[in-house]
Amino acid sequence: MKRIVLFCIGLMLSNVGMSADMANGKKLSVQCSVCHGKDGVSRNPEAPNLAGMSSLYFEKSLIDYQKGDRHDRRMSLIAQTLTKDQIKDLASWYSSFEITVKVPEL
Ligand code: HEC
Repeated sequence: MKRIVLFCIGLMLSNVGMSADMANGKKLSVQCSVCHGKDGVSRNPEAPNLAGMSSLYFEKSLIDYQKGDRHDRRMSLIAQTLTKDQIKDLASWYSSFEITVKVPEL
């Protein structure tokens, strides 16, 4: 029993160690803001908003660009320069932006 508890604590600690570094994500995002906006809201009509994007979708998109499952002349190149950890850090940064939505009244 004691061993199981220690194992669980160990797992919890190792997860904490692996958690994304949001501050690093913020630093890395400087290079993204040219197209995606400093606040994650794009002023470039070709680039999507990243503010509040789910980290799951964010990470999958970048990994798909890396693997070639998704193509874009800009993003396919940019994704190649990022490590898995950097992608997680960026995802944790952008996914934590708070967004509000106002649905138009008709
Ligand atoms: C030169 C402009 C440019 C820069 C710089 C740039 N992006 Fe993009 N990004 C785009 C465009 C354009 C798309 C849409 C591409 C497509 O249609 O697949 C895109 C798409 C994405 C998507 C997919 C979003 C979705 O809605 O599917 C993610 C995630 C993303 N970019 C993250 C980043 C990150 C993180 C950085 C910085 C490391 C970055 N981008 C830098 C132009 C840029």
